[in-house]
Parts: sequence; structure tokens; C-alpha cells
Amino acid sequence: MGTQRSKPSCTIVAIFLAFCCFVSSSKAKLESLQHAPKADGSLSFLVVGDWGRKGAYNQSLVAFQMGVIGEKLDVDFVISTGDNFYDNGLTGVFDPSFEESFTKIYTAPSLQKKWYNVLGNHDYRGNAKAQISHVLRYRDNRWVCFRSYTLNSENVDFFFVDTTPFVDKYFIEDKGHNYDWRGILPRKRYISNLLKDVDLALRQSTATWKVVIGHHTIKSIGHHGDTQELLIHFLPLLKANNVDLYINGHDHCLEHISSLDSSVQFLTSGGGSKAWRGDTKQSEGDEMKFYYDGQGFMSVHISQTQLRISFFDVFGNAIHKWNTCKFDSCDM
Ligand SMILES: *[C@@H]1O[C@H](CO)[C@@H](O)[C@H](O)[C@H]1NC(C)=O
Repeated sequence: MGTQRSKPSCTIVAIFLAFCCFVSSSKAKLESLQHAPKADGSLSFLVVGDWGRKGAYNQSLVAFQMGVIGEKLDVDFVISTGDNFYDNGLTGVFDPSFEESFTKIYTAPSLQKKWYNVLGNHDYRGNAKAQISHVLRYRDNRWVCFRSYTLNSENVDFFFVDTTPFVDKYFIEDKGHNYDWRGILPRKRYISNLLKDVDLALRQSTATWKVVIGHHTIKSIGHHGDTQELLIHFLPLLKANNVDLYINGHDHCLEHISSLDSSVQFLTSGGGSKAWRGDTKQSEGDEMKFYYDGQGFMSVHISQTQLRISFFDVFGNAIHKWNTCKFDSCDM
């Protein structure tokens, strides 16, 4: 009797588990957004990272120059590479830091566009769910933030990836910091679903250009250096799918490293406020193009056939430029 009764209940449990897995994995599917390019199909945007300090540490100066350059380049939107609010993210959806570090800082007319954000490790030290809440969009309609999502703009597909859960040390012991892991645990399943979803989205992308954004470095000679977990688990996806740019923050600097065995350019734009760490690491195997240990931001212009990046310091000087092309435009 006992064994006979346990059989159907096992089946029910199995069905229930399968249903749960289905629901949770379908939930993990990436949010997908659209942003129309300019009439000629081109797109310009700025990238800033590691910024929210109520204007301090030159955040206001960087913001001012972003406004000037943003106007000049007629930018379509801004990308934030995370660590949006220091030191410990937002306390909740009504935290006044949101105005003090964002709304009242990036006031230039050219910056009154959508801001596409990812979360950084400092954002996870506060109420991470607050930053992805709809309420923030009511407080400032520029704000767009999900954990991971895609953004399509005709010639370009963007893939915003939540990199903090990949990093082991935040889950082990990190100097007594508390992290908001609601929605992340169990961690292994979160990461494996995320990798699957990003891989699928990359493989399905038919855009000419593929740009991936995450908070953490993959390759960097800055203070934090390479992120081993991403080198191992994430970089192979980017290489296999011919990603053009990987853009991150985390290291408070401006930096450009070229992969030698793939199309990937590693771009760090983490100079939104506190910088000048004064230490560098080794990062082997790739080509170091540019490293600046101070504040600033990056601009990107992408047309059907060409891609241009520039880095700017707090005075608005272009301190590094690089471009590439696809199709026939390379002969021009
Ligand atoms: C602000 O920027 C200037 C120019 O780069 C730099 O000399 C100064 O140290 C920066 N201030 C802070 C607090 O980082």
C-alpha cells in the first residue's frame, strides 16, 4: 500500500517541480526593449559608470562635460555601467539620493534622454530591487533599469548583463557588507539561466553590431583587474558570438583593451566620480590601447558600417579615439 501510494505522489511532485522550473526559467528570459535610431540609421550615446556621489569627487564636472559633448554629438541616450549610488545603493524607492545623485546632477538638456542602467556591486549593497522598480521611472522618466535585458536599435543590439552575481567573493565574506540577493538565489541556477538566455539572445541577433554591457571588468589593468569568473564563464560566449564591444565600469578609470584572438574590444568607463586609484595590474594576452586613471566618460557613434568611440576627461578633452568598420566602408 505504502509504495503504491507514494508513486502517484512522486509523479505529482515531479510535475510540480517541472512546472516550477518552467515558470522560473521563463521568468529569467530577458526583457527586450527598442530604441529607434536617427533617420539615417545611426546612433550616438554616452557611457558613464561608478557615479552616484551627490556631485562629489568631480561627479558634477563629469556631468557638465557630458552635457556639452552630449549636445555636440546629439546623443540618443546614455548608458550607465553600474555602481549608480554610493556607498550602499538606494535604501528604497523613495531614497532622496536618487534626486541628489541623478536627477539634480545630470541636468543638461542633451542628457534628458533615456538612461539604460545596469546594477553594480555597490547597488546590491542597498535595496537592489528599488533600482529596478517602476516607481523610479515615475520619479524620473529617464530611468531604465532591469537586471538583464536587451535593447534593439536596427543596426545594433545591446545586451545588458547583471554581472554581480557571478563574483564569488560577494557570496563568501566581503568585509561585513550585506548584499540584497532577493531574486538571485539559488545563485547557481540564476547564473546558468542567465548565461543560457544571453547566449540565445546573442545567437538570435541579426544586427550588424553587438554590444554587451556589464558592471564588472572582463579585462582590465585597473585596481580590480580582470574578473576571473567572467573570463571563464562569460568571455567565451562573447567571442563565439562575434561581439564587437564589451563595456563595463567597476574600475574607476577609462580604458581600452583589444582582444587579440577575437573581435571584442574591452572598454572601461568607470570614471563617473571618485577615481585616481593609482595602482595597476597585469592583464596578459591582449593589446593595451589606452588607460587613464582619472574621471571622465565615453561616447560611441555607430552607423550601418562604422563604429567610433572617444573617451573624454573632466575638461571635455578627447583623450583617446578609436574606430572600426564593416563591409565596403573600410576601403574609404
Ligand atoms: C577633479 O579633476 C581634476 C582634473 O582631472 C583633478 O586634478 C582632481 O584631483 C579631481 N578631484 C577629485 C576630488 O578627484
